Amino acid sequence: MTGPSAQPGSRILGTGHYLPKKVLTNQDLEKVMDTSDAWIASRTGIRQRHIAAPEEATSDMATHAAKAALQSAGISAADIDLIIVGTISPDVPMPSAAVFVQRNLVALGTRKDCPAFDLSAACAGFIYGLSIADAFVRAGTAKHVLVIGVELLSRIIDWTDRGTCVLFGDGAGAVVVGPATGDGRGILSTHIYSDGSMIEALQIPGGGSRLPFSQEVLDKKLHLVQMVGMDVFKYAVKALTASVQTALAANKMAPGDVDWVIPHQANVRILDAVQSRTGIAKEHFFINIDQTANTSSASVPIALDQAVRAGKVKPGQSLVFCALGGGIAWGSALVRW
Ligand SMILES: CC(C)(COP(=O)(O)OP(=O)(O)OC[C@H]1O[C@@H](n2cnc3c(N)ncnc32)[C@H](O)[C@@H]1OP(=O)(O)O)[C@@H](O)C(=O)NCCC(=O)NCCS
Repeated sequence: MTGPSAQPGSRILGTGHYLPKKVLTNQDLEKVMDTSDAWIASRTGIRQRHIAAPEEATSDMATHAAKAALQSAGISAADIDLIIVGTISPDVPMPSAAVFVQRNLVALGTRKDCPAFDLSAACAGFIYGLSIADAFVRAGTAKHVLVIGVELLSRIIDWTDRGTCVLFGDGAGAVVVGPATGDGRGILSTHIYSDGSMIEALQIPGGGSRLPFSQEVLDKKLHLVQMVGMDVFKYAVKALTASVQTALAANKMAPGDVDWVIPHQANVRILDAVQSRTGIAKEHFFINIDQTANTSSASVPIALDQAVRAGKVKPGQSLVFCALGGGIAWGSALVRW
């Protein structure tokens, strides 16, 4: 975590994202389960989600996003010193999705021994990754860090549980973090948190060392996402609000100083509550949940890249990122773009 400083030590040099071609609408879901577009849209704001093709794996989506971020940063794959992948849905339990990405990028010139690791902080994975990248660049340990948030949630959700499956989608987002140039632009602060007393509110209980994979795990679907929706909802409203307020206070900023909140897209009602509690006007929240649903760690970098490419985010503007998910883990970052 970094507190405010007169000059940021790192900045985001480029952004990219990838969404699989296949779109699954609420109307599509109506045909296969007892749900409705009206219920999903009114409770969550979601209208559709993207679903990866059968031949696509997590690292494939991450690589697409990474290439787009490298291109937008204007740096070569050879210049990457570290790859961090926030994900809870890696290609395989071991090794990390990050080394699959590294292998893909070596073909483009990335060093054959470039360090790469996964980071498990669920929907907060990107903010955690950004915090680590900022620390590495500030310390001079790395010059350019690729931070990716990627999820292939459609393979780890229970498609017979209408209370969870309608909420999630697949996708990837990436940024390249590099040294700040002394013009005041860059990552001003990051704050990350977790609360293990809330583990049971959002988890995949089986398939790990605590409850190894077995026929029982399979039969009871314990290898898939389980959630106590309202517990997560209430926690999210409080924790996200507090993390945004902490970011503002740490930088001596008022709600009116924020140009864009780029939030984790979990539920538009959560964002409405955060908006009214923080006092940051609604038009300053970038919302794409209607198109993407909840893509967990990919959510903030996808939204960021869309906002940047749409020309909404302009140099010198103040951006607040915030996200919360399984753990419960959450955090915020304040960036001068
Ligand atoms: C999941 C969530 C949308 C549910 O909204 P809710 O207001 O809590 O709704 P409830 O769970 O109380 O369910 C209300 C009713 O809708 C029903 N329902 C649940 N899913 C449904 C669906 N997809 N379609 C239609 N009805 C559904 C429930 O069965 C329940 O019916 P009942 O009252 O007859 O039992 C909400 O809790 C939420 O968004 N939580 C946070 C989730 C989240 O963000 N998780 C990820 C964090 S990263």
